[in-house]
Amino acid sequence: MKYYIITGSSKGLGESLTTKLMGSGSHIFCISRKKNKKLQEAARKASASMDYFEFDLSNPEGLPALMEEIFNRIEKDRAQEICLINNAGMLPPIKAIHETRVEDIRSNITINLIAPVAIIAQFLKLTQSMKISKKVVNISSKASRSPRAQWACYSSSKSGIDTITRTVSIEQNGTEHPARIISFYPGPMETAMRKENQKTKPLFRRAMESIKNIVSTKKPVARHPDFVAERLVTHISSPEFGKRLFVSLEDVA
Ligand SMILES: NC(=O)c1ccc[n+]([C@@H]2O[C@H](COP(=O)([O-])OP(=O)(O)OC[C@H]3O[C@@H](n4cnc5c(N)ncnc54)[C@H](OP(=O)(O)O)[C@@H]3O)[C@@H](O)[C@H]2O)c1
Repeated sequence: MKYYIITGSSKGLGESLTTKLMGSGSHIFCISRKKNKKLQEAARKASASMDYFEFDLSNPEGLPALMEEIFNRIEKDRAQEICLINNAGMLPPIKAIHETRVEDIRSNITINLIAPVAIIAQFLKLTQSMKISKKVVNISSKASRSPRAQWACYSSSKSGIDTITRTVSIEQNGTEHPARIISFYPGPMETAMRKENQKTKPLFRRAMESIKNIVSTKKPVARHPDFVAERLVTHISSPEFGKRLFVSLEDVA
């Protein structure tokens, strides 16, 4: 049995990943603030095995208890693989740093960085003695490497998650039953997060971008999250997983 723990499963990339991973001898633990009823119904119809936890990642202190509960439901003697996908994320505040409020900085860094690190910590602790395949996927963004004006919190949190990927990889290399970890860059996707970003762009800039799109084919197109999920799921199950720490959609498309 393969177990998947997916944060941010209610919409966007998380919903697509959960749909792709449903069935075929797997059990999925979904985590988001609101349950996705459509997903639960699809799982029921497909007789797919799933547990859904409504949990707000802005309260990471509750994560050790949540992870304990998840691991209590894992049948240790049947588990061949456990894969954690840290996917939940948020973009705001989209503001120049001098205009940013402390509570908005805290909220962004908590959801994008503190919560995933806390989940990884529990995951590694609870799987430490298990002699099975263990995988961690951190959904990152190229904004971690090319900072953008008004995206300070988002870019910094994604740089932080990339550093966690590197650090965990170094630490795990020295262990008896190491977990493999990657940061994955999905590229632009047609999701609620992207719509939020589009809303904040001044009309003039948006118009210029659409002109650039017509004359140049270099700008990356926003993909449907199903397209991205399909490629990522294939990569997760490939023997190549973990050989490169930083994987872009283009590497697996
Ligand atoms: N969209 C893009 O163009 C793009 C590009 C590069 C990287 N990414 C990355 O890809 C990942 C998925 O993004 P997406 O575009 O699919 O985003 P999305 O459509 O906005 O979905 C975000 C998910 O995160 C969950 N979430 C947000 N805040 C949460 C909280 N406090 N507690 C628990 N869950 C929370 C949401 O569930 P609830 O609201 O139900 O809690 C939702 O399921 C993110 O890490 C993002 O940074 C996206």
